[in-house]
Amino acid sequence: MGHSIAKVCVLGAGTMGAGIAAQVANAGVPVLLLDRTTDGPDRSIIARSALERLGKAEPAAFMSKAAARLVEVGNFDDDLGRVAECDWVIEAIVEKIEAKHALYARLEDVRRAGTAVSSNTSTIPLERLIEGRSEAFAQDFLITHFFNPPRYMRLIEVVSGARSNPDLVAAVSAFADQRLGKSVVACKDRPGFIANRVGTFWLQSAVNAAFDLGLSVEDADAIAGKPMGVPKTGIFGLVDLVGLDLMPYLKASLTASLPKDDPYQAIARDEPLILKMIADGYTGRKGKGGFYRINREAGKVKE
Ligand code: NAI
Repeated sequence: MGHSIAKVCVLGAGTMGAGIAAQVANAGVPVLLLDRTTDGPDRSIIARSALERLGKAEPAAFMSKAAARLVEVGNFDDDLGRVAECDWVIEAIVEKIEAKHALYARLEDVRRAGTAVSSNTSTIPLERLIEGRSEAFAQDFLITHFFNPPRYMRLIEVVSGARSNPDLVAAVSAFADQRLGKSVVACKDRPGFIANRVGTFWLQSAVNAAFDLGLSVEDADAIAGKPMGVPKTGIFGLVDLVGLDLMPYLKASLTASLPKDDPYQAIARDEPLILKMIADGYTGRKGKGGFYRINREAGKVKE
């Protein structure tokens, strides 16, 4: 009998982690959602606020109130030991390899052997993620790359490493397909896998072109939206959705792992205006707004 998944733990309650937790709960599966520990009486405030935001998200992240009740929140210091209750641990913390390494080292001490552990990384190769980990950890490890927003985007990229246990990979893939409603694409362990290898290239090209041509955000999105088959958000709307703060991490990680003569290297750049917006908290929908303003009361992006 294969590996059965009756409870899931999501590490990181940001844009992706919170959305993934909601989609697992929508499948009727209990979820433990953990994030960093905060000072003060409620040490789990990051994960708790994420859960509250999810309840108001537009489009809705939860299918029902009953699903929302399946998510339990906590923090890494008090609750990490509870990963032993879970059959699949999904890591969705910041796209910085040092942070992921530090969390995996802690996870190694508390998880049950045979529990699937996957990363939602966009760009970090699997073999780099498991550097320094035990053989048992490497066998249980894979990448499950969800897309934003996790309830609505059908695609999931699954990357297995040379040492990943094929039964575990098959069990996670079957769960993603049958319970989470995803189309599973098995990818090789290459920088950016498939979707981001292509996606970051056109996203970066389009942002560069808009800045170089001095286009307004609205004009750029009008051209690159419907007419070019980009989602109705357009390019800058998509950057708001992804999170502006993720952009420099994606760029740093991809330029470090792609060959020197890859065409992406020539177009990769940190746009000063985007860096300033990040520094000022304009990180997109998750922050004070981004290229488009957010009407927080309605929980909707102003068109
Ligand atoms: P986010 O910034 O919304 O959330 C990241 C979470 O990590 C935060 O809740 C934060 O408290 C926590 N965190 C920050 N520093 C930490 C540290 N040193 N140790 C432990 N936790 C820490 O990020 P987002 O966008 O949800 O991305 C999470 C992962 O998902 C990244 O690996 C990213 O590349 C990937 N991803 C993001 C997508 C997007 O559209 N935003 C799409 C697909 C994958």
